[in-house]
Amino acid sequence: MSKKITVKKKIENFNKIISVPGDKSLSIRWVLFSSLANGVSTAKNLLFSEDVFAAINTIKKLGIKVTFNKKVCKIYGKGFNGYRYKKNIILDAKNSGTLGRLILGLIVNSPHSIKLVGDKSLSKRDFKRIADPLTKFGVKIKLKKKRFLPITIFGSPNLKSINYIENLGSAQCKSSVIFAAMRSNGKTLIKAKKSRNHTELLSKYLKLPIQIKRKKYYDYIKVSKVSKFKPLNYDIPSDISSSAFFIVLTALSKNSKLTIKNVNINPSRSGIITILKSMGVNIILKNKKKYKGEINADIKVKTSNSLKAINCPTELNSNAIDEFLVIFLVAAKAKGVSYFKNLEELNQKESPRLIWAEKILNKMGVKTVTTKNSIKIFGNPNLVINKKIIISNFLKDHRIFMTSVIAALCFGGEWTISDKDSINTSFPNFLKVISELKK
Ligand code: S3P
Repeated sequence: MSKKITVKKKIENFNKIISVPGDKSLSIRWVLFSSLANGVSTAKNLLFSEDVFAAINTIKKLGIKVTFNKKVCKIYGKGFNGYRYKKNIILDAKNSGTLGRLILGLIVNSPHSIKLVGDKSLSKRDFKRIADPLTKFGVKIKLKKKRFLPITIFGSPNLKSINYIENLGSAQCKSSVIFAAMRSNGKTLIKAKKSRNHTELLSKYLKLPIQIKRKKYYDYIKVSKVSKFKPLNYDIPSDISSSAFFIVLTALSKNSKLTIKNVNINPSRSGIITILKSMGVNIILKNKKKYKGEINADIKVKTSNSLKAINCPTELNSNAIDEFLVIFLVAAKAKGVSYFKNLEELNQKESPRLIWAEKILNKMGVKTVTTKNSIKIFGNPNLVINKKIIISNFLKDHRIFMTSVIAALCFGGEWTISDKDSINTSFPNFLKVISELKK
């Protein structure tokens, strides 16, 4: 039985300081890098969610020890060639595209075939995009219907370097190829459309053999074989994608103010801030700090009453890719018609999110015009909802669930939203943070 929640009342008049959990992209990358370090790595504020536990279970299956002491996680890396590849291993990426794609790049040297499976949502997502470049290194990959999980990967001890053009703006594909390149002979050259760059920054911090030239639309990355590296002690900053729900909630609620502490604002992730500022959201960044190649800051946001539509620049698409659903809620309340285009990647997520965005907005009474890769949203600054809205069958996509809750709290109406447990993949205490705002 899917667990439903009902939201019947708007939220307003809050003035709080909150923290949201650790960044998901950084948490999964920390787990994977630490599993290959020479020695023990420690993380504080690691995101404790299903996606990250799936990553931990994956490295455990590859013979790596992991311990927890209260909130501190330790990973006992056995070196870059320290995975124990038993016969007939099955790895389960569950709901996580990041884990599913990144781990493939790391197991390319397995002497035995390895099977990778995932949940219903992940099994509908495209893995050809990563099987194609990995095959060029010299591994064999068998996919279901040539595109989907389950996958069987047949590794090789003798991988060759490749030239690869990453044209989707996918950090998962780019990162997976970087990992495979670190296991290959020679120098791999990657031309990658701009996307989040945590893998590169962590690699640089760990002094791995990677060079990056940044140009306007593409990064040019050179990667050579890795032999060893030191453990990585990391204090994981909060996740801007989880913060996004609360930024929008505050902007759209009456008489409210919020500070979100120590959020990772890497420019390749903070497109939401640029977009919302240009729509008139009252948002500022305080206490900016550099941390191990990343930038973190406190985000302060206030009720924002005169919102304007945006013709969203496409170069911000990958920097805000996980935040568009909540950005669309701001567009629903802005004056004028907002236009978001070249967003085909949004339909490649845990559910086809562009399709879901249209469904939710239309249920709210907001007019939209959608194509396969774009959406026009006809905003209404006086939007109030007075009806019953039911949201179900969204492939348990955590961001659809949380966006629906935020819409209910901002615009009113009586919402019944299924699959509450979906939040466990990225933000298990989401509803608890909301109840803190009501206190
Ligand atoms: C992620 C990359 C993005 C993003 C996902 C996390 C990552 O996916 O949507 O939530 O950690 O590398 P793509 O690489 O498919 O764009």
